[in-house]
Amino acid sequence: MTKTKTQGAAALPLNTILDGDCIEVMNNLPENSVDLIFADPPYNLQLKGELHRPDNSQVDAVDDHWDQFSSFAAYDAFTRAWLKAARRILKPNGAIWVIGSYHNIFRVGAALQDAGYWILNDVVWRKSNPMPNFRGKRFTNAHETMIWASKEEGGKYTFNYEALKALNEGIQMRSDWVLPICTGHERLKDENGDKAHPTQKPESLLHRVLVGSTNPGDVVLDPFFGTGTTGAVAKMLGREFIGIEREAAYRKVAEKRIANVRKFDREALQVSASKRAEPRVPFGQLVERGMLRPGEDLYSLNGRFKAKVRADGTLVGTDVKGSIHQVGAAYEKAPSCNGWTYWCFKKEGKHVPIDVLRQQIRSEMNN
Ligand SMILES: C[S@@+](CC[C@H](N)C(=O)[O-])C[C@H]1O[C@@H](n2cnc3c(N)ncnc32)[C@H](O)[C@@H]1O
Repeated sequence: MTKTKTQGAAALPLNTILDGDCIEVMNNLPENSVDLIFADPPYNLQLKGELHRPDNSQVDAVDDHWDQFSSFAAYDAFTRAWLKAARRILKPNGAIWVIGSYHNIFRVGAALQDAGYWILNDVVWRKSNPMPNFRGKRFTNAHETMIWASKEEGGKYTFNYEALKALNEGIQMRSDWVLPICTGHERLKDENGDKAHPTQKPESLLHRVLVGSTNPGDVVLDPFFGTGTTGAVAKMLGREFIGIEREAAYRKVAEKRIANVRKFDREALQVSASKRAEPRVPFGQLVERGMLRPGEDLYSLNGRFKAKVRADGTLVGTDVKGSIHQVGAAYEKAPSCNGWTYWCFKKEGKHVPIDVLRQQIRSEMNN
């Protein structure tokens, strides 16, 4: 499944899991070449001793060597180094997601800002089925935090607002996401039937991240690939991925997993487009094309006001003239007004929103 994409002189190793330390590997990739980075770095949990449940069984905690750092300073130095390497390979309009828990996310947040990234949101992933606090000494730790940041302030990062709203049944997507942790058939097991990886993330989380902040064909890199959740979801969604993972056993699990993933068909990958991304249609065009005539009356949606269309695409009403937006706002005594949804024209005795005419022009442009 390996494919390469040429960025400048160098080629990108697409749909591959690269072996090695992610800082070194990223330093060898071409700069400005990746659309999105999703990073699930070591948490630096600093677990001291084993953790047991009340029945004395041992809790499967993250105590692996890859999560061990000698001090906060050592963890910070590592964080700053990988964030710098990641920023170099991001395209100017690229973005990054970093997921973490209270153990590391505040340190990561400061390092992100210091490295020049621009934080866009922090998203709380609230676990609908968290592990209880066995000792009863603290709150149940029921969430992780994801920081979403653009490469730089003002970067034109991808945000599929309408697609996320559609995923949420027409309601604007909020920054708190309630999703279950990875269990059941999705949880990968080793040959002994034990968890293949202690921190495998749920595919639902990556689905939302990738649908919301990438487009089909985009290149998504995950420097801490683990079992390859990012790669599996990227493949399903028709995105290209690059994984980096130091541990051979995890690479093997990830390779097998991704090989079994089927890509959704092209039509299923199309998502609701952002209104802002649709082509701009000036109101004057409706007049130029004779869809509305100079002198014709427009009526406010609430039926309280009317105004006349002028030849230059402005409106004139009672003591007010200007654009469809300005006249609507003046009538409503509001700071702003979307004239496209405010004004209607009369057709066969019925009031029809002028936005219908704009949509007609847009559909001609898209065909
Ligand atoms: C928190 S886990 C990621 C789990 C992954 N998101 C998943 O769903 O399976 C972090 C992973 O990063 C790897 N890792 C840690 N330090 C690394 C480094 N410097 N370079 C490459 N991989 C590293 C670890 O082996 C571990 O598999």
